[in-house]
Amino acid sequence: MTMLNAAPAGALKGDARVPGDKSISHRALMLGGLALGETTVTGLLEGEDVMATAAAMRELGAIVERQADGSWRILGRGVGSLREPSSVLDLGNSGTSARLLSGILASHPLTAVVTGDASLCKRPMGRVIEPLRAMGGEFQTREGGRLPMTVIGSDALIPVEYTLPVPSAQVKSAILFAGLNTAGNTSVIETTPTRDHSERMLRAFGAELTVEPGDNGTRITLVGQAELKGCSVAVPADPSSAAFPLVAALLLPGSEVRLPNVGMNPQRIGLIEVLREMGGDITIENLRDAAGEPVADLLVRASKLQGICVPAERAASMIDEYPILAVAAAAAEGRTEMQGLGELRVKESDRLAVMARGLEACGVTTEEGEDWLTVVGTGGSVTGGALIEAELDHRIAMSFLVLGSISEKGVRIDDGSPIDTSFPGFVDLMNNLGARITTGAP
Ligand code: S3P
Repeated sequence: MTMLNAAPAGALKGDARVPGDKSISHRALMLGGLALGETTVTGLLEGEDVMATAAAMRELGAIVERQADGSWRILGRGVGSLREPSSVLDLGNSGTSARLLSGILASHPLTAVVTGDASLCKRPMGRVIEPLRAMGGEFQTREGGRLPMTVIGSDALIPVEYTLPVPSAQVKSAILFAGLNTAGNTSVIETTPTRDHSERMLRAFGAELTVEPGDNGTRITLVGQAELKGCSVAVPADPSSAAFPLVAALLLPGSEVRLPNVGMNPQRIGLIEVLREMGGDITIENLRDAAGEPVADLLVRASKLQGICVPAERAASMIDEYPILAVAAAAAEGRTEMQGLGELRVKESDRLAVMARGLEACGVTTEEGEDWLTVVGTGGSVTGGALIEAELDHRIAMSFLVLGSISEKGVRIDDGSPIDTSFPGFVDLMNNLGARITTGAP
């Protein structure tokens, strides 16, 4: 446990070089391990979640190495040729590792045992197990589809056409990854678009994949028994991590912060759109393509924000950003209503409940429903002064450290160690910009 204290800060200034995108990093390691030949990854996120995927891919027989120049080299085994792991795959806090690897494990003739930390062992795996069972994969889980679980895979799965019951890029990706070693065409239909990093990267590795809009949603079809070829992946800075210095810069008067090379995938930039609609001064510069993903440099200047209604349709494009949006809303003028947040209850923590409780403890009025949250903005300063339990949730920890930075009395969090799952170096990066985050009690 590492207690952290965020004291009230002044203006933030400078460049914020945010680590690599977590979603893209996981996928690069997995597809690199499934490809034939060499894959080189630059900008890989070296956070604990991604390192859990790297360790799992090594257990499955791929060579995964960090090079002297900081890039990563992967020598894959080929689709269908992963070997049975000799020990339990412990995926720590990482839901993306657990869900995406389920598809890979189920489609190889091996038996694997998968577990994780206390947070991951509470999260539902049924959403990937159900379609993977329909394909012929076998799973034994704890009650309620929870980890630890045993996967008994096969190389003779049956392709499915599966309509996603919840908008989830993890479920979509698990099915597509299982489809790689399955004869025939595997299709996923999504009624709400979710991040398409898997689709983009599968194509870059040489898979045949089509995306067709239809009346009942978008149909993504992968041609099975694919041969993936190693390639180069350039991982952009993670927009979900950029969100923390970005919101802090908007809220602290006099701030001006530049965030270079941030991923601008259309399904990831809902927060930027909402903050601009709230009055946030965010300039998008040098929009360009980096190995199949759009990236840009962001220039953020302190702004007065207005409360807003964020409809459910926006949720998938900013699903990980609601905790930090709630912090922005706390300092905005007027009410911010966020709808369609049911999925927040099954993230690393119940983010809806934890945010509502923590904001109240810091003197902010909230209203909470089953799948919505309203934050009554103060139009300026927030009291703070609370000790927040981060509940093994990196994004809760970082959100409340930003809240402490903009507050009158500061905020403490009981445990900042989960921040390393997605944003190693967060405290130093924020302090270099001008924040005052320290270890221990103030
Ligand atoms: C992710 C998808 C999202 C997101 C998670 C990463 C991914 O989860 O919350 O942090 O990499 O596919 P869901 O698919 O459960 O929405």
